[in-house]
Amino acid sequence: MGFLTLAIESSCDDTAVAVIDGQRNVLSSTMSSQVESHAPFGGVVPEYASRMHLEAILPLVDRALAEADAKPSDLDLIAVTAGPGLMGSLLVGVMTAKGLAQAWGKPILGVNHLEGHVFANVVNHPDLDPPFIAMIVSGGHTEVVLVEDLGFYRILGGTKDDAAGEAYDKVAKLLGLAYPGGPIVDELAKDGDPQAFDFPVPLKRSDEISFSFSGLKTAVLWQVERIKKEGASLPVEDICASFQRAAVEALICKLDLAVQKTGVEKVVLSGGVAANSCLRDLVLNRGDWKGYVPDMFYCTDNAVMIGAAGYHGWMRGRRSGLDLAPSPSWSI
Ligand code: KG4
Ligand code: ZN
Repeated sequence: MGFLTLAIESSCDDTAVAVIDGQRNVLSSTMSSQVESHAPFGGVVPEYASRMHLEAILPLVDRALAEADAKPSDLDLIAVTAGPGLMGSLLVGVMTAKGLAQAWGKPILGVNHLEGHVFANVVNHPDLDPPFIAMIVSGGHTEVVLVEDLGFYRILGGTKDDAAGEAYDKVAKLLGLAYPGGPIVDELAKDGDPQAFDFPVPLKRSDEISFSFSGLKTAVLWQVERIKKEGASLPVEDICASFQRAAVEALICKLDLAVQKTGVEKVVLSGGVAANSCLRDLVLNRGDWKGYVPDMFYCTDNAVMIGAAGYHGWMRGRRSGLDLAPSPSWSI
C-alpha cells in the first residue's frame, strides 16, 4: 500500500477525514458540512461548530478507513490541521488526532491550513511545479503567497480588513440574500449589468499587494439605502454584478502586481472564493500568466489537501509531538 496518511481537517465549519498515499492517490475522502446548520444565523457560530465537529469526527474516521480498505495498523502518519482557524474547531481535530496517535502508536503532524490550500492545487494539477503565486481567498482568508518551492513560502500581501468571501457574504446579507452569500451573488451577477453602479475598486492605484473590502461594502450599503429611500425596488442583479466587477478586479489587479514584482508568471487560485465564475475566468484567461483553478471539490476545505501537505512536510523532516496544540492565527 505504500506510505499511508490519515488526514483530519476541522478548522472552520467542515469536518473532513481522508486517507491518501505517498503518490497523492486519494484512497478515501469523507466530509460532513455544517453550512445548513449555521445558515439561519447568517454566519459560522463557533461554539456550535465545535459541538458538531465532535459528533461527526470519529464516525468520519471509521468511514474513511473503511472506504480506503485500511486498518489503523496500516497507517504511517496522522496529519491534522493545527491552524489557522477557530480555536474550538481546531481543538476537536487536534485532540482527536492526538488520541488516535497515542492509542494506535502512530506519529502525528500538525499542518498549516493555508499550506493545505496550496496543496489542494498540487493534488488537483499534477503538472503544477513551483515557483508559482497562490491566491488563497475564502471566508476567512485573502492572501497572496509566493510558493518558491513546496514548503517554502513568502507572503506577498493580504487584507487590511474583511476577507474576500466575508465581503461577498456581507453584501449578500445587506441585499437580504441567504448565507453563504458568495455563490448567490455570483449567480445573480450573471443577469446584471456590471457597469450599472460605479463602485470603487479598492486599492487599485496602490503599489502594495494588499486588499481592503470594507469601503466597497459601505459603498454598496449607501447605494442600497439611497434606492430604498427613493422607494424604488432594488435592482439586485445589477448591484451584485457591479459589486462583483469591483471585488474581482481588486483581486486580479493585485495578481498582476504580484506577477510584475516577482517575475513569476504562474498563478493558482484556492479557497472557497476560487469557486467564483468571474474570478476563475479571469485567472484562466487574463493572458499575462498561466492560470490554474481547482475543481470545485478542491476550492473548499477538505482533508485531502491536509494529507498531501502533511505527507510532504513529513518527508521534509517536520515533526510534531503529543504536545501539539492548535494555533488559531498560524501564518503560512
Ligand atoms: O473555503 P470556504 O468554504 O470556507 C472558509 O471560509 O474557510 O469558503 C467559503 C467562502 C464563503 O464566504 C462563500 O460565500 C465564498 O467562499 N464563496 C464564494 C463563491 N462560492 C463560495 N464567493 C464568491 N463566489 C462564489 N461562487
Ligand atoms: Zn480554508
